[in-house]
Formats: sequence, C-alpha cells, structure tokens
Amino acid sequence: MTMTKPPTKKPKILLIFGTRPEAIKLFPVVQALAARDRLETLSCVTAQHREMLDQVLKIADIQPDFDLDLMKSNQSLDDLTARLLTGIGRILDETKPQRVVVQGDTATAMCGALAAYYRQIPVSHVEAGLRSYNIYHPWPEEVNRKIIGTIADQHFAPTQTSADALKKENIAEKDIYITGNTVIDALLISADKNSHTSVLDPDLVNLYKKFSDRKIIGVTSHRRENLGDGLTNIASALRAIAERDDVALIFPVHLNPNVRAIMQGALGGLDNVAMIEPLDYPNFVSLLNHCNFMLTDSGGVQEEAPALGKPVLVMRDTTERPEGIEAGTAKLVGTERDIILKEAIRLLDDEDHYLAMARAHNPFGDGKASLRIADIIENSLA
Ligand code: UD1
Ligand code: UDP
Repeated sequence: MTMTKPPTKKPKILLIFGTRPEAIKLFPVVQALAARDRLETLSCVTAQHREMLDQVLKIADIQPDFDLDLMKSNQSLDDLTARLLTGIGRILDETKPQRVVVQGDTATAMCGALAAYYRQIPVSHVEAGLRSYNIYHPWPEEVNRKIIGTIADQHFAPTQTSADALKKENIAEKDIYITGNTVIDALLISADKNSHTSVLDPDLVNLYKKFSDRKIIGVTSHRRENLGDGLTNIASALRAIAERDDVALIFPVHLNPNVRAIMQGALGGLDNVAMIEPLDYPNFVSLLNHCNFMLTDSGGVQEEAPALGKPVLVMRDTTERPEGIEAGTAKLVGTERDIILKEAIRLLDDEDHYLAMARAHNPFGDGKASLRIADIIENSLA
C-alpha cells in the first residue's frame, strides 16, 4: 500500500520501522517530527510484524505513508532480510529523503540503515549504543545494532553507558547525543488517558477480578536465541511456579508460532495461567502496573519496569540494558528452570527482597527524548 503526499520543498525525513517495539519507541518521535513545520516527515512500515505492529499504529493514530506488508508466517532471517532490503530500497528510490531514522536492533532497522547507506543517505539511530558484547545473545540484535552503529552519523544514546560504549568503538563524540530512551516518552503518553483511544480490555479486567486473591505475575517471552531448549526451560519454570496456589500468571503470548507451540504444550489447561493474545500498549502498561512482578526476556520491558518500580526477573544470560540491574529493579536469572523458579519464589516469599526491588527509578530518561531527537534532526537539516 502506498499513499503519496504532494511534494514539498522541505527537507524530507523518512522513519522506517516494522515491529511492535520499534513502533512503540518511534511513535513519539514521529509525533515530535511531524509537529515541525520546516520538515516533511514520512513513515514507512515494513510490517515485519503485522498484527502486533497494527496494534501500536492504531493506538498512536499513525497512518504510514508506505506499508511494505511483508511479514510471512515463521519467516527466516535470510528471507526476511532479503525482502526488507529490496522493499526498503524501492521506497528510498521513490522518496529520496534527506535523512532516514531507524530505531533499535531489528532486521527492519538494520536493513533500513543498510539500504540508506547504499544510496549515501545519512542515518539517525534511535536507541544507539546498547551492547551485550555477545553476538549470539541477543541474536541477531547485537550484530544488527553494530551494523547500524557503523553506518549512522547521528547516534541517539539513551544513557551515559550506551554513549560510552559508542565512544569505545571510536564513534566521534560530536555524533553521539544522550537523549534518554523514547520508551519513557511512550510510557508517559500512554499513561495519559486522553492521548490514546484504547480503553482497558474487559477480558483483562475480568482476569484481574478472577485472580484478585492471588499475586499476579506478568510474563512475556519470545527471544529467537531461546527458541528450543531455552523456551522449553522457561515454560517448565512457569509451570512449576504455577503450582503454587497463591499465584496467577498473565501471559500475553507473542504471535511467533514457535513460541506459541511450546507455551501451549507446557501451560495449556492450567486454570491459574492465562495465556492471552498480545495486548495493545495501554493494556500492557496496565498489566505492568497491576502485576506483582514481571518474568520476561523482552528488551523493552526491562526499561519500562524500573520506571514503574516493578521488579523484573530477566530470563536471559546477558543484557545490553545494565541500567535496570544497577538500579536494583531488574535481575538476570538466565533460562535454567530451577534458577528461574528459585528467584520467583524469593520474590513471592521474601518481602524485604521484594520491597528492595520494587522501587521506581528512571535510568532510561525523563520522557523528553523524542523532543531532543526532533530538535537535533531539525537543526542538522536547517
Ligand atoms: C522480532 C525482532 C526482535 C524483536 C522482536 C519483538 C528481528 C530479527 N527480530 O523478532 O529483535 O525483539 O521482533 O517482538 O528483527 N508474527 C505474527 N504476527 C505479528 C508478529 C509476528 O504472526 O504481528 C509471527 C510470524 O509468524 C513471524 C514470526 O512471528 O514470521 C516471527 O516474527 P519476526 O519479526 O521474524 O521475529 P520476532 O521473533 O518477532
Ligand atoms: N508489549 C505490548 N503488548 C504485549 C507485550 C509487550 O505492548 O502484549 C510492549 C512492551 O510494553 C514493550 C514492547 O512491547 O514496550 C516489547 O516488545 P517485545 O517484547 O516484542 O520486543 P523487545 O522489547 O524484546 O524487542
């Protein structure tokens, strides 16, 4: 689908995104840039994700100028990458933007940067400088963001730690800007009831009621490097946690069919485990606020939980977001069943430990990252 706007003489910015987390973290940037009269702001969605992307577009009221609609069920990395590169290339040839903006570390972001580089179009990278220093954890994101970092000439680092990582890679200091993470902007916008059209899902509210005498644990899990043994261990840990009669799990399950098959097999039929469809962002923020703690392997949730003072057990061996761990709200627990179980039980039974983790911190920003980013982009093109 292509919707062409009438041409203007203004510098043209093209934002390229394709998955749920990119859309959540870029919608505040789209809004901030679109408010600048001196710029023409266009967005191209690849739809690497379809339904999960559309949920965000809807609540953020974004109508993309270009939609490549390229998701396929159970897509492989090489096929996805090839289709992204050629699809984005076509849009760049058609629009000829002065600058491209990508976010994070997905295949869409990497291909957006690479296709722009092939046409010598400068690239701004939102959420630059995250590093785990392990190219297989998270996979393939660590390499994606290194590729983008090599190409970009504006690096919007969320924190001092991510800015320092870029400096160590000899990126020029003048090209690195500490802006905060735009996820905090998204979180604050979505907490403001008037700024989105979504209302709380009655099914979610019914689950809160059904489980009102239990401690609710929110769960998400989807990482590609965990498909197979990692996810099987995670599912087994969740099943063991659910044996307690004082807990309930609310688990919006990622639409990846490989994730769903494992989770359905291990957890289907348990009365206190609600495996539900992905929630739109305001409803997921409600779950974050409502739960006792989160069990997750998600990147974004590691940033949101500290801002809300919600303990989060991170089911990964490494993280590129050490700030949440340093703040004391997040803890790395890996993907071994017994360790996940032990750490969950500790949070459930040891109140002092729980309270020590349940403190709000904002290491990832103040909610004004998008405005800073829009200022920097606008000034660089003026
Ligand atoms: C992708 C990103 C990952 C990011 C994650 C966020 C890459 C390589 N991976 O991983 O960095 O953390 O998104 O969730 O860029 N599906 C649907 N509908 C949807 C979304 C996904 O049916 O709305 C299914 C499809 O069968 C699709 C599969 O999930 O083929 C996998 O999607 P894909 O984007 O390739 O990988 P993710 O694991 O989601
Ligand atoms: N999220 C959501 N609905 C859900 C699960 C997650 O809106 O059902 C949000 C969550 O708040 C976070 C983002 O999606 O902002 C994380 O996306 P995901 O876990 O898919 O990707 P990652 O952050 O690991 O790249």
